[in-house]
Amino acid sequence: MAKKMSSAITILLVIFALLCDVMASDPDPIQDYCIPNPKFGAIRTPLHTIHLCKNSSEATTDDFIFSGMKVAGNFSDMGIAAISVNPTVFPGINTLGMSFVRADLKVGGINPPHFHPRATEISHVVKGSVYSGFVDSTNRVFARVIEQGEVMVFPRGLVHFQMNVGKKPATIFGSFNSQNPGSQRIPSAIFGSGINDELLEKAFGLSPKQIGTMRRRFDPKSVS
Ligand SMILES: *[C@@H]1O[C@H](CO)[C@@H](O)[C@H](O)[C@H]1NC(C)=O
Ligand SMILES: *[C@@H]1O[C@H](CO)[C@@H](O)[C@H](O)[C@H]1NC(C)=O
Repeated sequence: MAKKMSSAITILLVIFALLCDVMASDPDPIQDYCIPNPKFGAIRTPLHTIHLCKNSSEATTDDFIFSGMKVAGNFSDMGIAAISVNPTVFPGINTLGMSFVRADLKVGGINPPHFHPRATEISHVVKGSVYSGFVDSTNRVFARVIEQGEVMVFPRGLVHFQMNVGKKPATIFGSFNSQNPGSQRIPSAIFGSGINDELLEKAFGLSPKQIGTMRRRFDPKSVS
């Protein structure tokens, strides 16, 4: 009897774990596709932003094609140009549980340590040699140079980074298993977000002057 009870509890726990897993991802679509109709706007619920769909009879082939990443985007001072392709710029992928990014790196350019709270990423080096890696929750780093044609996976929520170590520009194509993966860059999340200086000094063992240097570098609001 007790044994039956405990196996029933185990089954319930497994079901609960599976449900949690499902709730943690993008919801399953309940229709083939949902091209947002900009005229209708969006509804915000506690969990999601829901776009109202066009009548499917008005969907066109072009709704499912994105042409905005044939060439590199605009380069930042870190030598990276990223074009994020989400439902805002590519309405056809709305509700389909995925999105992607094209990133170009100049020679020596970096994609600074960052993470995506809602998605695992597969990063495909289309061109070039890119030192790529991530850090797991025990602070173990997994990194090496990825050559053209290779892919690396960055598990959801883990800090990862890339640097073009080749002699030519590099192009990377990343795909996410969420239409809204989110992205937090560690340097600007820490030094550009307005966290109390004293706390940062204690956390990083930096002087007020050094904190000031970091703020000027990563806080768009601190103009000097
Ligand atoms: C969608 O469009 C079709 C064809 O124009 C129409 O018959 C149908 O009523 C529309 N559906 C909705 C929900 O507006
Ligand atoms: C690059 O910058 C120009 C000028 O600010 C802008 O019009 C264009 O949309 C930007 N391109 C991308 C991919 O963001």
